Amino acid sequence: MKIDILTIFPEMFDGFKNTSIIKRAIEKEKVIIDIHDIRKYSKDPHKRVDDYGYGGGKGMVLMPQPIFDAVDDLKTENSKVILMTPQGFKYNQKLAYDLTNEKHLILICGHYEGFDERIRTLADMEISIGDYVLTGGELPSMVIADSVVRLLDGVIEKQSHENDSFNNNLLDYPVYTKPLDFRGMKVPEVLTSGHHANIEKFRHEEALKKTKMRRPDLLERDE
Ligand code: ADE
Repeated sequence: MKIDILTIFPEMFDGFKNTSIIKRAIEKEKVIIDIHDIRKYSKDPHKRVDDYGYGGGKGMVLMPQPIFDAVDDLKTENSKVILMTPQGFKYNQKLAYDLTNEKHLILICGHYEGFDERIRTLADMEISIGDYVLTGGELPSMVIADSVVRLLDGVIEKQSHENDSFNNNLLDYPVYTKPLDFRGMKVPEVLTSGHHANIEKFRHEEALKKTKMRRPDLLERDE
């Protein structure tokens, strides 16, 4: 998979690309992640990428030209262009799995007070990562890239993500490591019993209990 990210803050992605599982996925050539500075595409003599909005109102608006040119430059017949915006489709684990089937994602990070409405025509899809407003689409694009890349074959063990929260509409079951007794809090005995069927049963029950208590809406979902 290839992921191209269009941003006016490319430096925000240095840590993202150079840490942990994402770094390893890039090294193992499971994914190519390229960060593109929108400013580089600006035809303005001062490399401006935003301007005042028509009709007044405060805040600057991202101009269409640099973003249209960037998408023209990067897009192929296999590309899916996704715009990060709080007005988009609410992201979830199912969509993360769906996106693993794409060959090429182009993620556009909106910024400042907004972006010119015509930029929307470039997008195959608009995604919001939740009902809150961030200063820009950079963190959301990292959320999308991270959640998709970890699901790609050979990035982490399949078993680790098959048991994730939200698969089967259940939150994750609890896990424990050493020591067996920490400040009086003991690891449930069944986990050290070696009895696999009982361990499975315990995990399923715990996941169900937690989901009923914290996210009963997940149990009502029909996906
Ligand atoms: N840009 C600002 N807030 C956002 C959000 N919640 N989701 C996606 N893009 C955003």
